[in-house]
Amino acid sequence: MAACCTMKRPFFLLGVLQLLAAAAAVYKQWIPNTNFETASNWDKGRVPCASDVVHFEKDKVVSVFVRSPHELTDMYLPLNGEFVLAAGAGFTAFDGSWDPGCDSGETVRFADAEQHAWFDPTLWQDVFPNGELKPSGRIFSVDEERVPCRYDDVIFQAETSFRVNTDSSQQVIHLRSISVMGQELSTPTSWAGYLQGPSAPLQFHGNGTLQVTGTGCPDKSGCACGNTLDGPRICAALFRALGRRCPAPVCQSPLQPLGHCCGVCGATISLDFTPDFDLQKYQDRLIQELLSQMAISKVHKAQTFLGIIPRSSTPLIQIVLIDDRAGVQAGTTAEQLAADIMEDVAQHGEALGISSGKVEVATGSTSSGQVGSHTLSRITAGTVMGLLFGLVFLGGILLLYRKGKLRLPALRFPQPWDRLEDPVSAAPASDKGFDNPMFNVEPPRTDPGEETPKDLQVFYLNPLYDASETET
Ligand SMILES: *[C@@H]1O[C@H](CO)[C@@H](O)[C@H](O)[C@H]1NC(C)=O
Repeated sequence: MAACCTMKRPFFLLGVLQLLAAAAAVYKQWIPNTNFETASNWDKGRVPCASDVVHFEKDKVVSVFVRSPHELTDMYLPLNGEFVLAAGAGFTAFDGSWDPGCDSGETVRFADAEQHAWFDPTLWQDVFPNGELKPSGRIFSVDEERVPCRYDDVIFQAETSFRVNTDSSQQVIHLRSISVMGQELSTPTSWAGYLQGPSAPLQFHGNGTLQVTGTGCPDKSGCACGNTLDGPRICAALFRALGRRCPAPVCQSPLQPLGHCCGVCGATISLDFTPDFDLQKYQDRLIQELLSQMAISKVHKAQTFLGIIPRSSTPLIQIVLIDDRAGVQAGTTAEQLAADIMEDVAQHGEALGISSGKVEVATGSTSSGQVGSHTLSRITAGTVMGLLFGLVFLGGILLLYRKGKLRLPALRFPQPWDRLEDPVSAAPASDKGFDNPMFNVEPPRTDPGEETPKDLQVFYLNPLYDASETET
């Protein structure tokens, strides 16, 4: 067990090479199954043996794949369900003769598969098209993108049964293709045909409808994942799986990347792009020099006010850089890499199709937020400061909110707060930079002249929880 983590580094290069080879399409595999032979599917943590009585809940719908023959003493079946039998598999009555290793004679119950949710990021893993597990290299995904995105391919492993709750805030969940029982369904008609079959209603339940489009991302600058509306559902599932909210951050002022449930230490870069930008090529370029862990994707930054009045959303390329350094060193490798990336943008941005970029940094030694920005045509305005205070304040609000003592309408600030202007910039505030709305606030200052209550109230809005964002 302890050996797992020290093994990581040697795999780095391998992971990068394989990623380069198979980066075009993303395959995500559903992890849980409802197979008869999976020990964790039974309440006793073992597969029933001959002297056991097998018990399926009467009113639980289930599809169960059976790989091999089983002798059983008795079996209670659900009212609605199916056994999918592999060749040679099946059940026979136990003849009462002695079965070595099975003298328990217990009632063994099939565990509840009802709660496994499509939008639980811990139930998906990245695989190659053949289903082989991708080694965890230096590339990671923000939590919303750990769940299949609209141009992804979904794999339910061959020879497994499963049951997924597709409850969603969207009526339709789009996917490029779905493989079930070793059969790839990659056209709308083949998928519609599958849904008519006997197994689909046992495998999928919930109010989200899966729809296969057969189309990959058509835009070389990348496509947004499309899971933003289900962001709260994704984080709730993650927190359930973790058994808590977020791990204690190792830096004082964690960053909150779009689409990610927990704050991170390190750096985030937001890039504005032009039609020349190629996400895949740019990712490959960055991977060459990658010394920390990176997530890169197109995201939509919502322009909203308290999540109530949806305005518009701006597509941008978000790069999240984290590292595994500790203490005051936490995030410093990521910070250095972010600086290198920005240097590269300054020199080659135009050729790469990047028009401007902005960095936010949170390291173990950062006591207040640090921001760097670079625009090819002009300097952007709007520096972010007061991170620490903002987060302490935010933490207070979240705590209160979780305890149910504070409701949204109560979140009005009587005191004048003002935004800190970028000291080096005399440019008007019509900036193209991407202020993280969480961090746009600093403590009250003595000069009340620049009161901007809208900006103030926006800061504690976690973009992740913004249900009004729409896809382009
Ligand atoms: C589906 O059901 C969930 C509750 O499980 C609800 O929150 C969600 O809004 C519903 N989605 C739609 C599209 O009706």
